[in-house]
Amino acid sequence: MKTLRRAAEIRDLRRLARRRLPHAIFEFIDGGAGREITLRANEDDFARIGLSPRVGVDVATRRTRRDIVGFDSALPVMLAPTGLAGLYWPQGEQAAARAARRAGVPFCLSTNSVASIEEVSAAATGADLWFQYYFLKDEGLTDRMLARARAHGYRVLCITLDLPVQGRRHRDVRNAFVVPPKVTLPTVLDALRRPSWVAGYLRHGVSFGNFETHQLGGGFSTIAQHIASLCDAGADWETVRRIAEKWGGPWVVKGVLHPEDARIAVGLGASAVVVSNHGGRQLDGVPSAISALPAIAAAVEGRAQVLLDGGVRRGTDVLKALALGADACMIGRAFLWGLAAAGEAGVDKTLALLGDEIDNALALLGVPDVAAIGPQILTPGGAPDFSAKMRDPA
Ligand SMILES: Cc1cc2nc3c(=O)[nH]c(=O)nc-3n(C[C@H](O)[C@H](O)[C@H](O)COP(=O)(O)O)c2cc1C
Repeated sequence: MKTLRRAAEIRDLRRLARRRLPHAIFEFIDGGAGREITLRANEDDFARIGLSPRVGVDVATRRTRRDIVGFDSALPVMLAPTGLAGLYWPQGEQAAARAARRAGVPFCLSTNSVASIEEVSAAATGADLWFQYYFLKDEGLTDRMLARARAHGYRVLCITLDLPVQGRRHRDVRNAFVVPPKVTLPTVLDALRRPSWVAGYLRHGVSFGNFETHQLGGGFSTIAQHIASLCDAGADWETVRRIAEKWGGPWVVKGVLHPEDARIAVGLGASAVVVSNHGGRQLDGVPSAISALPAIAAAVEGRAQVLLDGGVRRGTDVLKALALGADACMIGRAFLWGLAAAGEAGVDKTLALLGDEIDNALALLGVPDVAAIGPQILTPGGAPDFSAKMRDPA
């Protein structure tokens, strides 16, 4: 596809996704909670960190490989768990998992995927698969889901902690976004301008593939209703301990912004802590992920890995996160835009862009191996003082 070949950066993939997706679905991906202060800060704070290159270094051979929770990843990058990927492109989870396998990076399947645990593992044999778990009210369902994930080769359990209830996402309220999408005059008029998406949707439809029909209650529901009916807001660290024990393999916690929570997770045996504010989709006004990272990396003290997501849009963002103490980054929207724009080839493009940008930046920074990235690549003083500037533009 010519347009895909001409995409110079991830932002171009977002533009293509916007053209192909119905408005409400594009906004579901794009949007955040509240006034989207945190959503904007996730990207803006990366832009405020300066890089300090060295010259006169042999950079003829460069290395981008990095261990991510025991997997030798081709890049310090993996695909974040994202719900409903199959709504953005037919069989979107399978496409993304295959693209991750091709690029040699891990893929994390969401509890709220369209494709099931079984369908994704069958479509992407040999990929490094992780399974993301939301605390469910139904203990039997939890046991079955974890057993299915284990039996189908998912290696790491990613326990997401920052969604006891869903954040208040104004765009979704204004767009009356429900699953399955409702047929109304405005949605039909909008869909008529998006024939490629409609054709895929009519062939494949949408459902929450990891749940059985009777558990979903039938009919249309907002994502907030779906979460409220199935997820357990009563879960705590004791629940984390119990889930980790049931799982029996490597596990990570996702959604940590406070150093003390990172310490607790490490004390319970987490292999990694994911510094994340859910892409600005939960509580508006919390710190950007990159600004929360240094204190958490300091609290973890190398006893577990530290991953980061939120606002990662280019290779230099990944290197800035590594410089401030992360081992790797997860990407959410960056791959969903590629997926929505062009399916599997679009996710290939996202990962190729990030890989090329990381490689290019290593050469231009004078640090040929990603393993040697540290605070030395930042302008003197390292990260700016992030605390001063969160503001509501009204
Ligand atoms: C459309 C969408 C759906 C998401 N669904 C989930 C999910 O099901 N489980 C989860 O743990 N995080 C979910 N997230 C959060 C991502 O895992 C990740 O934290 C976030 O996208 C990172 O920010 P970024 O999009 O700026 O990269 C979702 C994010 C988006 C954009």
